[in-house]
Amino acid sequence: MRTLPVNFLLLLSVWSVCVWADSGRIRQKRAWIIDSFSIEEEHPGPFPYKLGKIELDKSLVNFVLHGQGVDEDPKNILSITDTGEIRVHKKMDYEIDPKVLLLKFEAINKSNNEVTRLGLEIKILDINDHAPKFQKSVYEVTVDESHAQDKSVLTVLATDDDDSETNNGTFSFTIKSVTPKTDNVEFYIQQQKESGTIYFKGCLNYEKAQKYTVLVEAKDKGEKIQLSSTSTVIINILDNNNNLPEFSGKPGPEKVKEREAGVEVLRLQVTDKDVRGSKAWKAKYIIYGDKKEIFKIETDPVTNEGILTVVKPMDY
Ligand SMILES: *[C@@H]1O[C@H](CO)[C@@H](O)[C@H](O)[C@H]1NC(C)=O
Ligand SMILES: *[C@@H]1O[C@H](CO)[C@@H](O)[C@H](O)[C@H]1NC(C)=O
Repeated sequence: MRTLPVNFLLLLSVWSVCVWADSGRIRQKRAWIIDSFSIEEEHPGPFPYKLGKIELDKSLVNFVLHGQGVDEDPKNILSITDTGEIRVHKKMDYEIDPKVLLLKFEAINKSNNEVTRLGLEIKILDINDHAPKFQKSVYEVTVDESHAQDKSVLTVLATDDDDSETNNGTFSFTIKSVTPKTDNVEFYIQQQKESGTIYFKGCLNYEKAQKYTVLVEAKDKGEKIQLSSTSTVIINILDNNNNLPEFSGKPGPEKVKEREAGVEVLRLQVTDKDVRGSKAWKAKYIIYGDKKEIFKIETDPVTNEGILTVVKPMDY
């Protein structure tokens, strides 16, 4: 609450009348703002509640308010009593409503019936009522197991609807968990404003994990309460076929009866250290030196064995 000296008030009022006449609309000039108040958003009430009081010379009466919060959007939020008390009738939302309400205050000097017009400014204060939100609840990426360490894997993005100039609207990322836990890699996240990039130290190894599920959290820095949310990042590892198949067990000479076709002659066994069933594990057999195309060889999809069969009957 501030009381302005009468002389000053008069001077201001004369000047402000000129401004109104001049432009016909509100000018954001501090000079003619008699008072400023602030409303905390999401105030629970009960309504109406007293916001403050404008202290004026006793000769002024018939107070009237016009402008934002009264007869301009957002309407019907504010009123003034005969004693100069400003009242709030509704909840304000910092994220939806204007951040500042600009109002005109009018009063009449009962001694000479002159109208005094002054400006009034009401600020809306943000509270921490929004958690940072990820752009996606699940992110997915596929990387080769030869992916270099300290090279970006994936970038997540989050936003917070609270005032980004304050701690209520700023947040930081952390990795909450990595599943499965393997000793060959360590994931970390680096933040750049509203984005977080995931990297790792170590070596990916398809044989250790074919997929990682990383839970990332974004938490704001609110002073009274902190709000947070999480997102899931799925990192699929691509097998790089880093193991060669090796023949295990030596096939000896086999006998085939002449004039017989479609019979299995022998099975070749191989071992491959790539993950069983994966593309990198699957063996492919090729026959050399069979110019007459008497034999064919196929891969058993389950055992990975090479099955050699006679396709053309041979004449002894
Ligand atoms: C009201 O009018 C009277 C008479 O003209 C004057 O003396 C007084 O200063 C005025 N008050 C204000 C606040 O303008
Ligand atoms: C942040 O939010 C709290 C309520 O959670 C509020 O009291 C405080 O004034 C806000 N801070 C800023 C700088 O807006």
